Amino acid sequence: MPDSRQGSAASQAYRGYYRDATAAPDLYLCSVMRGTPGGEYHRRFWQPVAYLSELGETPLRVRALGEDLVAFRDRGGRIGALHLHCCHRNSSLEFGFIEERGLRCCYHGRLFDVDGTILDMPGEPQMEKLRAEVSQGAYPTHVFGGVVFVYMGPPERVPVFPVFDRFGLPGEKLVPGSRWRLECNWLQIKENVVDPHHTQILHTIPQRRGMEHFADEFRNFPELTWIETPAGVAYLAARRVGDKIWIRSAEAIGANFHCISSVFETGQQAKRATLPFMSFWTLPIDDENSTTFYVSHIFDSDTMPFDKRRYLEDFGQQPDRPYRDRQWIPGDYEAQVSQGPINPHGSEHLGSLDRGIALFRRHVRRGIEAVERGQDPAGFYIAQQDVPPTIANDYVIPAAEAGIDPDDAAALRAYAERIGRQYYDAPPMAILARELSV
Ligand code: FES
Ligand SMILES: [Fe+2]
Repeated sequence: MPDSRQGSAASQAYRGYYRDATAAPDLYLCSVMRGTPGGEYHRRFWQPVAYLSELGETPLRVRALGEDLVAFRDRGGRIGALHLHCCHRNSSLEFGFIEERGLRCCYHGRLFDVDGTILDMPGEPQMEKLRAEVSQGAYPTHVFGGVVFVYMGPPERVPVFPVFDRFGLPGEKLVPGSRWRLECNWLQIKENVVDPHHTQILHTIPQRRGMEHFADEFRNFPELTWIETPAGVAYLAARRVGDKIWIRSAEAIGANFHCISSVFETGQQAKRATLPFMSFWTLPIDDENSTTFYVSHIFDSDTMPFDKRRYLEDFGQQPDRPYRDRQWIPGDYEAQVSQGPINPHGSEHLGSLDRGIALFRRHVRRGIEAVERGQDPAGFYIAQQDVPPTIANDYVIPAAEAGIDPDDAAALRAYAERIGRQYYDAPPMAILARELSV
């Protein structure tokens, strides 16, 4: 007899026995290891590996894209990133000595410059010959906002480090953040950026359980839409706040960058552009581990004491609280890491609010395919003037001025999308730069 409940939610009851939870991870999309398509893709972007403040008197061992490296600042102030194991007999350079120029291996004293060339081989009569034949693996480095980046791709084509328009605004200071180490694949972290659906749930748990965090206005579920941006994906979340319409956006760019405006925004004051709040770069350590580095954008107009702000920025991003507390008020860390070391997409069942996830995966897939074809992926720039504007913003307008019914969901979404596209004619950060310089 056919089940009369077929096609209804009830027909899905007690399906545990039939549920196949054995989907394999999509390694084409997720892997970052050397020689994989994804690994080649990630090797086209500047990767964050340390905060500058972490480079002290001894070398810093780091792991990036599955490769073990050592980062250091020599006494002349130059930054190096070398393969961890010495090209002589493989001792680890994390035990080496930092010199005026370069890093010296602790075992037999080969001295390596920041570009990996050999400067000295104590006692070796064949030194000149050997120096011409061998070097230590090295990668170009760049420091920005107190974060040290390396470029691990082909040295014939090194991209410019993209200085986005949220950096260098009048009166702005960039303060380096802390390390967020997550035991999961990088993609889980970046997908979260274009998933504003989670903000209304996960990030309002603190308020609902008696802790101050995101502004209360985040509790009103917004109308969501997404756009593909020149090098990534942005969401636009539109809500009514009193007699205003508030459109919030955040953006993920390339493989590893994303940026947001303030999580304390209330959407009550009319504005076309708002201050940048945090910018993030996520390093895939390997396929199952990642570290996010960030900078806080600080302005004189900030009213929250910095220590409190930093506490709230870091809250829920690390397993640094008792398990019971993490269960009671889980954060991004709990949500993302618990998806598994590499979230198997075949076991997911996406809904209509997950369009950002689908768009971001498509963006990454296209990037990987471009690299496979020998092209540059979106987010790879040879010249600074090619770097497009960023559109993470809060746009607040009186509903009467917007000319739409703020309670009409479809109209709200269409309006938000229109505002998002207009950002390319009048970039929010350009508006802000003008406002801040008067
Ligand atoms: S192992 Fe490094 S100098 Fe010998
Ligand atoms: Fe989040």
